[in-house]
Amino acid sequence: MRPPGEGPPAKRPKAMLPARPAVQPRGPPPAEQQRRSLPIFPVRGRLLGHIRGLDSAVVIGETGSGKTTQIPQYLYEAGIGRQGTIAVTQPRRVAAIALATRVSDEKKTELGGLVGYSVRFDDLTSDETRIKFLTDGMLLREAIGDPLLRRYSVVILDEAHERTIHTDVLFGVVKAAQKKRKQLGKLPLKVIVMSATMDVDLFSEYFNGAPVLYLEGRQYPIQVFYTRQPQSDYLQAALVTVFQIHQEAPSAQDILVFLTGQEEIEGMTKTCRDIAKHLPDGCPQMMVIPLYASLPYSQQHRIFRAAPKDCRKVILSTNIAETSITIPGIKYVVDTGMVKAKKYRPETGLEVLAVQWVSKAQAWQRTGRAGREDSGICYRLYTENDFEKLNQMTIPEIQRCNLSSVMLQLLALRIPNVLTFDFMSKPSPEAIQAAIEQLVLMGAVERKDNQLVLTPLGRKMAAFPLEPKFSKTILLSPKFHCTEEILTIVSLLSVDSVLYNPPARRDEVQSVRRKFISSEGDHLTLLSIYRAFRNVNGNKGWCRENFINSRNMMLVSDVRAQLRDICVKLSMPIESSRSDTGNIRRCLAHSLFMNAAELQPDGSYRTVDSHQAVAIHPSSVLFHCKPACVVYNGLLHTNKCYMRDLCVVDADWLYDAAPDYFRRKLQAAKN
Ligand code: CDP
Ligand code: MG
Repeated sequence: MRPPGEGPPAKRPKAMLPARPAVQPRGPPPAEQQRRSLPIFPVRGRLLGHIRGLDSAVVIGETGSGKTTQIPQYLYEAGIGRQGTIAVTQPRRVAAIALATRVSDEKKTELGGLVGYSVRFDDLTSDETRIKFLTDGMLLREAIGDPLLRRYSVVILDEAHERTIHTDVLFGVVKAAQKKRKQLGKLPLKVIVMSATMDVDLFSEYFNGAPVLYLEGRQYPIQVFYTRQPQSDYLQAALVTVFQIHQEAPSAQDILVFLTGQEEIEGMTKTCRDIAKHLPDGCPQMMVIPLYASLPYSQQHRIFRAAPKDCRKVILSTNIAETSITIPGIKYVVDTGMVKAKKYRPETGLEVLAVQWVSKAQAWQRTGRAGREDSGICYRLYTENDFEKLNQMTIPEIQRCNLSSVMLQLLALRIPNVLTFDFMSKPSPEAIQAAIEQLVLMGAVERKDNQLVLTPLGRKMAAFPLEPKFSKTILLSPKFHCTEEILTIVSLLSVDSVLYNPPARRDEVQSVRRKFISSEGDHLTLLSIYRAFRNVNGNKGWCRENFINSRNMMLVSDVRAQLRDICVKLSMPIESSRSDTGNIRRCLAHSLFMNAAELQPDGSYRTVDSHQAVAIHPSSVLFHCKPACVVYNGLLHTNKCYMRDLCVVDADWLYDAAPDYFRRKLQAAKN
């Protein structure tokens, strides 16, 4: 390994806001002192001076400089935006909750008072709330009720570089609201876009030439090393690197490893723990902590705890630690260069999660995690040559995913023409067309006088905070007299997994789970787990014995109640199919008919609509079975294209669900 001779690309500041050395004031309490020691503090006055006079601004500053926690407070304290609420959006719910908690602590108020948060299925705000952290998806949802976002005086679009699909749509919605409010002479809407790394010109230009304000932060030097040779197995390479560091570096220096997903991380956690047990005397202890989005919040929180003396903390994380979460104590970053991200091909209609290379921007973001408190070291487990071949920026999600959910939302927002919506980065016309076709097929959208409009069904679908396929499932369920069951199933699929699968106890898990398994698939297996959970009144001991995540299960009940409320508001009849599972499967077949696969004579599976080769994911209860026909929730592409969450259905039901569609497909196949 050798150090390269360069750092992050230098940027040309437009309006420079240099940070002066932080003064160490005597007297103020620790929280206040901490606030004052942040790099952003010395430029507070000038920053506010700039922002006060601007409609829109782009703020760039190193991670940890204090943008997210301080700027909303500065605005509030300076009386900017007092006529309304200050919204701060985050791409991830864990970040929204953590930040709201932090800022309400700093303001010494109760969470949900002056400072609150709102994420899907969880709203902790009140009439007093003036600083509100929310996921970008939630603000978008609020915009459906009020496209002018009248309750907000300031919208801060944070972590803008992540370019999640919701952030990208929000850019357009917020920009339109700002313009419209100006035209109508209403309270102006201030828009602030923030990030640590982004293509500033693109953002500035999009927001009508908004000035770019640069914060100079503390960044300690970081040495970057590449491998000499490409690595055929990045997991093995990561393992070797971790233990090399572990045997050489002082134990107080922690390691952060970037991997791609839950299974990989759990597997690696176990391997590291096993190896760490058998190290020679004199080697420090090792505390290995996994981190990924679907871990319960309480477990994610463990990363913030310092390791005991003579023990090294090793965190194995997905890209969630790239921006959303800052972990103290990290000296070493090990970057595999890989990330699991969505890809979409409109020709086939397939949206897949696939492991792929990061962009240069992501690689630098990962590297930056090593230099937060002191100089750091980053090992990139790929060659410098491979680094040079990476994309400069991550392709915005909106250009690589299925757009049906977004199109439904834009139509619900009454955007006059979704085809010409002011996207910062336009999705391809094929992708937009494919999404609209899907919505038409679902009966959510129709063409009227050459215009696209929501059908009454489509409007109802938009009322649920769910993907269109799931809101459609709920709306179809009265026809099959199984709304109670479908509500349960959709709720189970809307929270992080309720199944706790510690890899070390795999055999035990399999044996206790056997009693829940339904030969009709994963949806019905989940349903039977939920029923058993209700039967024991959510008993925690029962959950432990059965490897069920009780916190997520409680959340399911909560989500279910919220979805049920929406059904009641829509005056839907809510019936239970009781022990009749046929109707539940029929209902799933009718809503997921576009995600169907059939067994081939050679024992493999192919999707019904595009004849793509697919396989049953090992985590499915049907993994060792060969049902003739299934529907599934989604595809995951790793070494193969896997179907996840399957339900056994009759091929005839699919045909009944969408006769025209399948007739067209058959016709196309013949030609
Ligand atoms: O947004 P930016 O990355 O510029 O920084 P921030 O999120 O406002 O955080 C500023 C500082 O507050 C961090 O460097 C941490 O020291 C601290 N912080 C924390 O300790 N716990 C949190 N949950 C959030 C921030
Ligand atoms: Mg931030």
